[in-house]
Amino acid sequence: MLAWALLFHAQILVDVPTTAKNPHSSPADVELGRKIYGARCAGCHGPMGDGGKGTNLASPVLPRSPDDLTLWKVIRFGVPETEMPSHNLTNKEIWQIAAFVRTLGKLDTAPVTGDSQRGEAIAKGKGGCLGCHIVLGKGGELGPALTDIGLRRGPGYLRRKLTDPDRDSAGFLQVHLTTKEGTALSGIRMNEDTYSIQVRDRGNRLHSFWKADLKELRLEQKTLMPSYGQQLTAQEIDDVVAYLTQLRGIQ
Ligand code: HEC
Ligand code: HEC
Repeated sequence: MLAWALLFHAQILVDVPTTAKNPHSSPADVELGRKIYGARCAGCHGPMGDGGKGTNLASPVLPRSPDDLTLWKVIRFGVPETEMPSHNLTNKEIWQIAAFVRTLGKLDTAPVTGDSQRGEAIAKGKGGCLGCHIVLGKGGELGPALTDIGLRRGPGYLRRKLTDPDRDSAGFLQVHLTTKEGTALSGIRMNEDTYSIQVRDRGNRLHSFWKADLKELRLEQKTLMPSYGQQLTAQEIDDVVAYLTQLRGIQ
């Protein structure tokens, strides 16, 4: 609620455009937009917009930004309660970035050639994905739910996640800890503050510790997401990517 109230306040102070259509979308504007995007957005959304920490922007349909004006507002004010920040740039610069973002939707960053039915069989079978991920209510919780992964991530990112998972794994840190009583535990950090830490173990159980009770606490950048580059053939990876791409939430 507070975030929305602040957002409302911010919108009063900022001269929000009223034109529904982007007035700065010439090729020169797109080029300037590309430069600002590279500096401000690519770190989260990927240089080609196919996702990372931020959502997939390389899609002709952006759920939160159906038209130019909503896209402008999302870039200017961010998305409350998510990692999408506000951007204090000039109105014109925001339009230029918006113009560039729209070009990403027209790029076919990584065509999907696999067979999604075969991909589903692999994901639920020998891939063992449901051991760690929920799809439509079923599965483990060690990794993020994949129910709407096709909306959030582009095929390029999905392929990288299967073959080179450490590349964009920010957020899900592996934790190794030992209590003063000698109990050792490894898992994923779910939450942490000055005094306590919450860890989910490989059996999906959630544990909470006071840091004062720990003898050792070690965080690791390496992801628990296995690399499938050896275990699956290139064709099978394509199939799994095709399956993931069409997971678009509960409809
Ligand atoms: C710190 C990481 C981060 C940065 C930097 C960032 N974003 Fe985002 N962005 C996100 C996240 C996370 C979301 C998803 C929010 C949500 O849950 O809907 C998002 C959502 C969006 C959306 C909404 C997509 C939709 O579904 O309609 C757009 C558009 C967008 N970002 C554009 C940008 C642009 C342009 C920039 C640079 C000016 C930028 N973002 C910078 C993380 C980031
Ligand atoms: C041993 C547990 C484990 C298994 C098995 C596993 N994953 Fe993961 N996966 C994770 C964890 C933990 C993360 C979050 C950290 C990261 O992004 O690397 C993750 C992240 C992902 C992401 C990125 C999600 C996002 O929101 O960006 C995708 C996609 C994914 N996994 C797909 C799969 C698929 C498909 C399979 C099966 C072929 C699979 N995973 C098997 C643990 C696992």
